[in-house]
Amino acid sequence: MYNYNKIMDNLVTKYIGQTFVQYEEIDSTNTKAKHISNNCPEGMVVLAERQIAGKGRLGRTWISPKGKNIYMSIILKPNSDPQSAVKLTHIAAAAVSESLEEFNVENKIKWPNDILINGKKVCGILCEMTLRKKEINSIVVGIGINVNMAESDIEEEIKDKAVSIKIITNEETEREKLIAYIFNNFEKYYNKLKEKNTIDDALEVCKKNSAIINKYVEINKIGRKTIRKVKVLDITENGELLILNEEGEEEIVISGEVSVRGEGIYWDKKTLWDNEIRR
Ligand code: BTN
Repeated sequence: MYNYNKIMDNLVTKYIGQTFVQYEEIDSTNTKAKHISNNCPEGMVVLAERQIAGKGRLGRTWISPKGKNIYMSIILKPNSDPQSAVKLTHIAAAAVSESLEEFNVENKIKWPNDILINGKKVCGILCEMTLRKKEINSIVVGIGINVNMAESDIEEEIKDKAVSIKIITNEETEREKLIAYIFNNFEKYYNKLKEKNTIDDALEVCKKNSAIINKYVEINKIGRKTIRKVKVLDITENGELLILNEEGEEEIVISGEVSVRGEGIYWDKKTLWDNEIRR
């Protein structure tokens, strides 16, 4: 189990992570967090050593072996802005990325919800909401981080896409300290959203550490088969992606609408398509 005293030793938050429940094994921390969200204080977290039905985006499974990684969900009660889940995804990505930097682990954010090291995924974020009378009742921010997994712990079919902090640094990372740093950074950005209704600081981090700005990526409209090869120009002040499309026109892409793929494949490569556009 996580030694929560060690988390507390590094925690400077007022409410994020100040209350918690943890499990040796659970189906999914997000599912549990959604179940308890009605009767718990804002900022409560659900942690697990292992998930047997860990959820990823787009209905995928998040492989969650025991004892070496971080699986956690933060329960929040933001106002009923329909964009809250998207904003919280950016806040979480910025908080994880910045915390890894504080551990001297260089990393990049693949908009909107993946953290990469050397082009491979080290962390995924899944925000889910519960509704009451069609209004947002709570938002659960699920964060999975591959921390101390060895290469041999990673399943064969995801070996070329996934990595852990340990595989890169050759060192064990103290999970509890990393969790505390993430909560500290998260609360800083979340408070700014609540008090000033902006996520500009979090987006600065998302832009500074972006894996895809000025790169060529494939975007795929969720639920459709068509794949487009586009150039990413920027992240807007609303957290959308500004791209240069196939016609050489600027276009805005909203998170949740597309999945971004092909990281590494088109990076820094001049494609035929790019030569045709000559911007
Ligand atoms: C993704 O990249 O597809 C998102 C992965 C999110 C995984 C985390 S692990 C903790 C929390 N509980 C879940 O079931 N999923 C999230």
